[in-house]
Amino acid sequence: MIPWTILGTANIPNNGGELRLSQRGDDFSIHLKGVRGELMNSRVHCSELALAELGCAHIKGAEKSKVLVGGLGMGFTLAAALKATSKSSQVVVAELVPEVIEWNNGPLGECAGRPLDDNRVMVHLGDVAELFNTKQATYDAVLLDVDNGPEGFTQADNNNLYSIESLQAIRQTLRPGGVLAIWSAWHDPKFTQQLKKSRFKVETKTVRAHKGKGSRHTIYLARKV
Ligand SMILES: C[S@@+](CC[C@H](N)C(=O)[O-])C[C@H]1O[C@@H](n2cnc3c(N)ncnc32)[C@H](O)[C@@H]1O
Repeated sequence: MIPWTILGTANIPNNGGELRLSQRGDDFSIHLKGVRGELMNSRVHCSELALAELGCAHIKGAEKSKVLVGGLGMGFTLAAALKATSKSSQVVVAELVPEVIEWNNGPLGECAGRPLDDNRVMVHLGDVAELFNTKQATYDAVLLDVDNGPEGFTQADNNNLYSIESLQAIRQTLRPGGVLAIWSAWHDPKFTQQLKKSRFKVETKTVRAHKGKGSRHTIYLARKV
C-alpha cells in the first residue's frame, strides 16, 4: 500500500493547534494533529457538494446572486456553489488558515477542479465570523462547513458561531428569502431549536458521504422568512 506523505503543516490561529495536509496517490487528507483527527478527506465529498446544491437551490438561474462559503477546505463546496449559480453571481469564500489557500493554489486544487481560478470568486482570508459583523443584508446563501458540526472543532472560538447571537447576526446578513446551510456529521435536534429561536424556518436533510453510501451527514437549511 502507498504510504501517506505529509505535504504541509499550518498553525490554526487562536491556538487552534496544527493542520496537516497529506497525500496518498490521488487522495488528500487534512488532519487536525493529535486526538481530534481528520477534518476532511478528498475521497469522501458528496455531502460537501450537497451543502452547496441544497443551500443554493432557491437561487438557481438567478442573476447577480451572492453566496458566502466558509471555509475553503478542499474546495468542493466552493466548486459546487459556482456550478449552482449563474455567471453573474459572486461567491465569497472565507478561510481562516492562509496555508489552506496556498494548498488549494497547489496540487490540492485539482481535487475540486481549481475553483479558486474562477473569476467569480473572492477570497476572504480570516474568520468567517468577521463577515457577519456588518449585519447588512448581503448574501442569498451562506454555506458553513468550518467544523464537523455545530460546535467548535477546528478552533474553540468557532463555538460562538452557533450561538443565538451569532445566528441572528448571520440572519441579518442574508437577503430576504436567503438560506443559511450548515454541514454536520450528526443530527442535533437542539440545534434545530436554536435556529428556530433565531427566527429561521428550518428543515434538515440527510445526505450520504459517498455516492449514496457511507456515513449519513446532516445539512441544516435555515431560511430567512
Ligand atoms: C471541513 S473543511 C471544509 C471543507 C469544504 N466544505 C470542502 O468542500 O472541501 C473546514 C475548513 O474551514 C476552515 N475554517 C475553520 N474555522 C474557520 C473560520 N472560523 N472561518 C473561516 N474558515 C474556517 C478550516 O481551516 C478548513 O479549511
